[in-house]
Amino acid sequence: MSPDTSSSMMDDLLHETRVFEPSDEFKAQANINDPAIYEKELADPEAFWAGFAEELDWNKKWDRVLQWDPPHAKWFVGARMNACYNCVDRHADGALGDKIAILFEGEPGDTLTLTYKELKREVCKAANVLKKLGVVKGDRIAIYMPMIPEAAIAMLACARIGAVHSVVFGGFSADSLSDRINDQQAKLVITADGGYRRGSIFALKPTVDQALGVSPSIENVLVVRRGEGDCAWTDGRDHWWHELMAEARDECEPEWCDSEDMLFVLYTSGTTGKPKGIVHTTGGYMVHAYATSKWVFDLKDSDIFWCTADVGWITGHSYIVYGPLANGATVLMYEGVPNHPEQDRFWRIIEKHKVTVFYTAPTAIRSFMRWGEKWPDGCDLSSLRLLGSVGEPINPEAWIWYHENIGKKRCPIVDTWWQTETGGIMITPLPGITATKPGLATRPFPGIAAEILNETGEKIGVGGGLLAITSPWPGMLRGIYGDMDRYVDTYWSKWDKGTYFPGDGAKRDAQGYFWILGRVDDVLNVSGHRIGTMEVEGALVDHHEVAESAVVGKKHEVKGQAVAAFVTLKEGIEASLEKETELRNHVAKKIGAIAKPDSIIFTAELPKTRSGKIMRRLLRDVAEGRALGDTTTLTDPAVVDQLKEKYKDD
Ligand code: PRX
Repeated sequence: MSPDTSSSMMDDLLHETRVFEPSDEFKAQANINDPAIYEKELADPEAFWAGFAEELDWNKKWDRVLQWDPPHAKWFVGARMNACYNCVDRHADGALGDKIAILFEGEPGDTLTLTYKELKREVCKAANVLKKLGVVKGDRIAIYMPMIPEAAIAMLACARIGAVHSVVFGGFSADSLSDRINDQQAKLVITADGGYRRGSIFALKPTVDQALGVSPSIENVLVVRRGEGDCAWTDGRDHWWHELMAEARDECEPEWCDSEDMLFVLYTSGTTGKPKGIVHTTGGYMVHAYATSKWVFDLKDSDIFWCTADVGWITGHSYIVYGPLANGATVLMYEGVPNHPEQDRFWRIIEKHKVTVFYTAPTAIRSFMRWGEKWPDGCDLSSLRLLGSVGEPINPEAWIWYHENIGKKRCPIVDTWWQTETGGIMITPLPGITATKPGLATRPFPGIAAEILNETGEKIGVGGGLLAITSPWPGMLRGIYGDMDRYVDTYWSKWDKGTYFPGDGAKRDAQGYFWILGRVDDVLNVSGHRIGTMEVEGALVDHHEVAESAVVGKKHEVKGQAVAAFVTLKEGIEASLEKETELRNHVAKKIGAIAKPDSIIFTAELPKTRSGKIMRRLLRDVAEGRALGDTTTLTDPAVVDQLKEKYKDD
């Protein structure tokens, strides 16, 4: 499959001539402002990464920086360290002890701050609670939480004792949660009774209870009380977090882990029906998260850094928790939605807490655009000095809006391309060096080798093709939990075994800048979230009245892409609006609301090639209204035949 180079986004980019240089003032103060760094690191990428590693604390230093046996890498071989120690202790016990580490704002407006010293005490107590509940190094712990400080504390507590955390986004369903727990045989779940969203409490504990009906590996459930505390309780299994924390000692020796010990597993969607447990290890991941936070977000002691992602996604792992805390930064965490109580909530937060660096997703920016300038205009955003974007291609229009209305034409924008699998940022401007162009992620971070290749692996100097990463990098995934074959097949088999295939299409301009065009596989990107078409198809056919389904992405003004489903109902079942609602809700129940199809088109048959392959290009055109004028339903098989005729070459 080749990237969609005909898209209007592509056309926009082809005509993009606007260039934005960082100001002299920004350059002068930037953590990195020497363009020669790109040449320097090229000469010796291992020495480049080792330089950052030297800035972290190790219990034992590495014997070798990299051991590369394609496609298996080990970074900082033989070294020992603890991720939590690097994020917490070294600041708590040093000059930054009284500096705020986490600045929390709840959706109802409550705030809480934790200094590095306080964070250390909380994390030590939580680590002791886990130990008391029988957790030992290597055990897997599921975390299913709202965006509250306890989520970060729980992650760090796991890291402290060498347990492997697996955060599951709080919007996922009971089925999704139990699938993830079962895949890694997790021993304990950390959750909350609920959290605040759009002005009311959404319950989490009942979902956990439901999931645990089919997840026998779980021995204990730790429950943070964030809501009213009125949830069902299983004595012996369920424990209130605050009760055990009150009894726990606030000192706990960190476990010195091997650099290649597993730090976390995070599930993400792929091209099959089953999400993949992406495995990240300790030393290399920490170096990558630390280095990119320092240079891409230009973190200084005085910064208030706000990454709006949920800790349930990789962005929350690397740029709310591990990267910024390893840098000793102050991190803002916000619990709720951007439009509660009104559409200026984010701007009010920036004004109130004097946020300096703000990192969000294009889908959010497009919502802000729709809501209008009056919301940011009504707030003082003068504390901002740097903006970031992540999760999906940013259209130039959104980029310019962000630049003008939020950055007030002063703040550089870093459009950062990376993935759950890459662990950290891979292609990005460096804000004190790079002249940016709207919509372009620009250049690989120093130490990262990226190319554009064609299907057969030939390099494309200037032009479009498939994005490839051609040498190992410290934050790279080390495997798919329990499935090494799938790791090799999915990522390292398109070309040679040393070249990573991320699944994205891209184009490079004469200046060497990369334009990321989006997925070329059957993975959708809905509001910056990855959703596998096969997963949604699986959820649809799980409904007893559905015979067959096909799912494609269709362009959406705010979400980037929306889920469009085609469904063939079983014999004798009538298509209706009610049926559509029922099926949409069924997907939400099976996977989570983020996967809910925007539209369902009922069809007597699905258009397939003679070999039985679903004609997805045809379906995409139908979903986007391009195929046969305003065809909205496909109930008539003759329509399908006509379409097939038209798309014979698909
Ligand atoms: O298609 C790319 C898109 O998001 C995918 C990775 O999704 P996930 O693993 O959920 O991680 C998202 C946050 C890092 C990529 O394969 N993507 C991510 N960032 C960008 C992007 N596409 C274009 N530009 C970006 N800056």
